[in-house]
Amino acid sequence: MRTPLRLQPLIDAYMIDDVVGQLKSGKEAEVYVVTSRGEYRCAKVYKEAQNRSFKQASQYTEGRKAKGSRQARAMSKKSRYGREEMESEWQNTEVEALAMLATAGVRVPKIYEYHEGVVLLEMIVDSTGHAAPRLNDVTMSAEDARKHHTTLIREAVKMLCAGYIHGDLSEFNVLLSEHGPVIIDLPQAIQSTANNAFRLFERDINNLAAYFCRFAPEIKNTDYAHEIWKLYENGKLRPDTKLTGKFAHSTRKADVSSVLNEIDAAYEEEMRKRLARSEDND
Ligand SMILES: Nc1ncnc2c1ncn2[C@@H]1O[C@H](COP(=O)(O)OP(=O)(O)O)[C@@H](O)[C@H]1O
Ligand SMILES: [Mg+2]
Repeated sequence: MRTPLRLQPLIDAYMIDDVVGQLKSGKEAEVYVVTSRGEYRCAKVYKEAQNRSFKQASQYTEGRKAKGSRQARAMSKKSRYGREEMESEWQNTEVEALAMLATAGVRVPKIYEYHEGVVLLEMIVDSTGHAAPRLNDVTMSAEDARKHHTTLIREAVKMLCAGYIHGDLSEFNVLLSEHGPVIIDLPQAIQSTANNAFRLFERDINNLAAYFCRFAPEIKNTDYAHEIWKLYENGKLRPDTKLTGKFAHSTRKADVSSVLNEIDAAYEEEMRKRLARSEDND
């Protein structure tokens, strides 16, 4: 195919030998199949920032610190400088997250190069050697759905233990390789300490349940998000912590008036005692 302009710098740097074709274009990136050092790899080219919705981006960047105040001001003003900063911020986040998660034992594509706004990634393949399908493109047995769901919950736990939440986990961002699910697309990954972290984590986990319950309906009744988050908040979550998928929400309403009555009663009791003591001393 004709060489896409944005890949030329990698060809000039001998990082890419040939461009084979383009995979489905997603929301934020174009992904090409290329040959590089004798194997097929994926080149992910981030779309220009102006093609992206900033409104949508702001919920993710909320939890991230801009490095300098000039940068922060520019990002919030959405100026040209701000757009460029945002652009490289997204790419950096994806590269950093992919590297960290690989170290944490999460199955994500390996990164080979990062050059001129293009990331060269391991191509995830199916058993025929073609680019692996997204979960959204396949159907499966109830047994496989249970197995892959369990695997992905475990991956989300490992990510959380490494301080990350995917932030856009769904059947569109998980590829099914011949060895099982592989999580992709992390430019919006957020730190688990961000203000809105639980909300995004819960949405990720619920997206998985909503997808897998198409094949194994009982998955609808699981509540891994609350179970995992409680363990995480209490410092008890480990990559291999056993999980049940059940969470007992407290059904007891805080009974404020009975607490106040008890405080009043204790106060009266104390006053009675003091009075009795002072009468004794008289
Ligand atoms: N490492 C990879 N191996 C195989 N296919 C990939 C890889 N990375 C991306 N793709 C394909 O490209 C599509 C878009 O990539 P993605 O990272 O999800 O970007 P976007 O932000 O555009 O959704 C994916 O849905 C998938 O089909
Ligand atoms: Mg995607």
